[in-house]
Amino acid sequence: MATTATTWGSRIGFILAGAGSAIGLGSIWKFPFWAGINGGSGFIIPYIIFTFTIGITLLIAELVVGRAGRGSALHALKRLGGPAFSIMGGIAVLTSFVILSYYSVVGGWCVKYLFDSLGGTLVTNDPKVLQATFGALVGDGLTNSLWHLSFLTCGVVALGVVNGIERLSKYLLPTLFILMIVIMIRSLSLPGAMEGVKFLFDFSFDKLTWMSVLNAMGFTFFSLSLGCGIMVTYGAYLKDSTDIPNSSLWIAYLAIQTALLAGLMIMPAVFAMGQDPNAGPGLVFVTIPFIFSQIPFGWFFMILFNVCLLVAALTSSVSLLEVCIAYLQNEWHMKRISASILCYVGLALLGFVSALSFGVWSDVKIFDRIIFDFLDWFCSNIMMPLGGLSIALLAGWKAWNSTYVQVNLVKKYSASANAFIKFSLRFLAPLLVLVVVATGV
Ligand code: PHE
Repeated sequence: MATTATTWGSRIGFILAGAGSAIGLGSIWKFPFWAGINGGSGFIIPYIIFTFTIGITLLIAELVVGRAGRGSALHALKRLGGPAFSIMGGIAVLTSFVILSYYSVVGGWCVKYLFDSLGGTLVTNDPKVLQATFGALVGDGLTNSLWHLSFLTCGVVALGVVNGIERLSKYLLPTLFILMIVIMIRSLSLPGAMEGVKFLFDFSFDKLTWMSVLNAMGFTFFSLSLGCGIMVTYGAYLKDSTDIPNSSLWIAYLAIQTALLAGLMIMPAVFAMGQDPNAGPGLVFVTIPFIFSQIPFGWFFMILFNVCLLVAALTSSVSLLEVCIAYLQNEWHMKRISASILCYVGLALLGFVSALSFGVWSDVKIFDRIIFDFLDWFCSNIMMPLGGLSIALLAGWKAWNSTYVQVNLVKKYSASANAFIKFSLRFLAPLLVLVVVATGV
């Protein structure tokens, strides 16, 4: 049987699971350093605008396709769009698999840093020590791979059944919000913290560059987990009584709120301690431990921070894993347990390639990037936008009637809201996606 009979236990459970997918390393690890590299508000303001325009409409579209198609991403796209779209569904599954393979390498760093913060070994007055710790972790292929495996294990165990995802998100996400607020208050209370707030929110047009806008757009896809079948898969588990546009608004809102919280927990501290906001990927693994080492009770906040990172990474990776498992169950009639084992082995192997690309394979470059960076760039800037494009074309043109019915199933939305969704899916989203992909290439 290709269709799925599983449904979410409650609407709030679904919203938290969707938000759990959206909120991840993207929000806590990538967002602050991307905002740093792209000049703060010049990146943040377009990101918010994109999220509430095309981001939200694509989110609605994916959930609609999932609920109308009732099955794995591939199955749902095939059912609504025919063979051409089923290929796009297959590509979406593959994209999820590839993202998870390198995402879990960073997840492995989070596991290691949580252990280190518990053991107190990250507290030091010398930033070079932290630089060396991080360098040794990512540079040593074996260590990097072993932590990667440990994270994958947590992911598979956490996944359990769909109820596992829902229950996990229901407890972990509220915990995450509380922890982040505590850290934000600590960070904002440091002398000089306001400079960091200004960096994030003081807007002037000269901060807005072509590059910052494009990056904000790519990040919108990554941050809302669009274009790789996740929301389609989650949509298939939706009851008919769940209002899709309203739930999508909640998911988008929670994703933005968490990214901003992450910015507000990191940047004020970075400025207060005179650190560089452009530190790149090491911001969270080098700069942050250094900052926490300098403040009273910093070791405690360091533990909280690493718990946040790991929680965020876990709830996103289970969503990526679910896309692959739903596919294997639907198309290959595998049992959940065998599908999990197969995914684990495949992800372990592909993940090794990314893990090794920081060390022994750092000379292997594709388009001038090490393998890890190439996979991230390729998935975020090419595959996810293309996945988003196919969903927009399917929901906006080919299956617009189903989209209309699904959007208005629980509550009849106004003509202008429906017109906006239609316009965005038919013209706005495809146009912007093509611009991002063309510039990326
Ligand atoms: N949205 C997740 C994050 O921000 C990343 C992700 C991308 C998860 C794609 C699933 C799919 O970390």
